[in-house]
Amino acid sequence: MDNRPVGIMDSGVGGLTVASVLRRRWPEETICYIGDSLRNPYGERTPEEIARFAGEMKDFLLGRGVKAIVVGCNTITFNTPASFYEGPVPVIGMSADFSSLPKTAKAAVFATPASIASHSHRRGLERTLPGAEIAEVPCDGLANAIETGAPEETIRGIIARCIRTYHAEGAGAAVLGCTHYPLVRRLFEELMPGTVFFDPAERTVEDAMERLAAADALADARGDDAFYFTAGTDEAAALMAKVFGKQMPAAPAVL
Ligand code: DGL
Repeated sequence: MDNRPVGIMDSGVGGLTVASVLRRRWPEETICYIGDSLRNPYGERTPEEIARFAGEMKDFLLGRGVKAIVVGCNTITFNTPASFYEGPVPVIGMSADFSSLPKTAKAAVFATPASIASHSHRRGLERTLPGAEIAEVPCDGLANAIETGAPEETIRGIIARCIRTYHAEGAGAAVLGCTHYPLVRRLFEELMPGTVFFDPAERTVEDAMERLAAADALADARGDDAFYFTAGTDEAAALMAKVFGKQMPAAPAVL
């Protein structure tokens, strides 16, 4: 048993969609979360910047005594070198296992420009759906619009434009390849009726918990959760209330 917290990092509030899976399925685990809202969006930055900022968040979480780090961010997961995953505790990135998707002749992935440029989701889709047509859809501006609480009509407009520009229409299945996007899943579903949307968060948390279980490091009693943000703590707290269904404090952090 290990009752130290599980660290979760993201460029902002997106990783809360991963944290909510951990809370729902492993309620005895304590969460220590860091969101770098100040420097969001990461998905429009270079891999060098992304790796540097992610390294700072890793140090922040290690400084708070976490037993593992879940990277609740596709952009970080697919833009960091192998060395990022090494260190004193396991570091688990977002899953690219899409084997539970329905068979379809056309699939799509919606993700940040940096994640799309890595083609990691495409490779995951090709493993599961060999021969399928794959639409890669870089959603410029979408994560930041969600992060900053842009009006629903603005967010709908960005998604609609991306679907059109990158020919995602008619996909039987689509990956929400940025952890911010499940926060507006309803808009995706409205704009692409008939498409099955897949959120990799569930599989990612399962990967992390399997690693901890194998090391006999699951928790049996929850301590105090801590949620840190480098900006926008009021907005983050409001969103956390929706995601977790109760008021939870958001604390400021400096990286
Ligand atoms: N939430 C992040 C992801 O999963 C990225 C958002 C951003 O661009 O900062 O890719």
